[in-house]
Amino acid sequence: MIYFVTSNKGKYAEAQAIFGDLIQRDIGYAEIQADTLEEVAACGMKEVAARLQEPVMLEDAGLFVEALQGFPGVYSAYVQKTIGNAGILRLMQGIERRNAFFKSVVAYAEPGMQPVMFTGEVHGQIGFEARGKKGFGYDPIFYRGNVSLAEMDLVEKNKISHRAASMRALKKWLDSR
Ligand code: IMP
Repeated sequence: MIYFVTSNKGKYAEAQAIFGDLIQRDIGYAEIQADTLEEVAACGMKEVAARLQEPVMLEDAGLFVEALQGFPGVYSAYVQKTIGNAGILRLMQGIERRNAFFKSVVAYAEPGMQPVMFTGEVHGQIGFEARGKKGFGYDPIFYRGNVSLAEMDLVEKNKISHRAASMRALKKWLDSR
């Protein structure tokens, strides 16, 4: 049984669809200020592994907007909490180049084991308006073609998402041991 340390119900639901058996642990951990998601995840895992004596997984994700030089990137949670989707749309006003991607880094460790990490990305565009009520976070403004991630149900999002890719890679690794 794996314990997924997250307070985000949306992330948990997406992960559960991939892993089946999975327990959410909403215990919180320090998210350091760093330049990469990998550093944030590795540091979080160090803290979590020291506190929990069980197989644990955590995940750090971010939205990287090409025309904004990768912003909000590692600051995605703070930016979502502050200026939100409306703020990103405002920053993108008048900008033609709308390419963006989500990246997910998942870290996994068992007691006495060095953590392993897997990554996943999904590439798309920042739309011109927020659309859809499903998903969470930046989903309403992130589009694949004419459809935002918030217009997709969980099964559809999990076919293409950054999180589904990183977690499937972890699952494959676990299954191959
Ligand atoms: P964190 O991985 O929880 O630190 O997420 C960083 C920020 O990106 C949060 O505001 C999340 O809501 C947002 N985020 C992470 N994954 C997704 C996603 O799959 N869709 C939309 N927003 C996401």
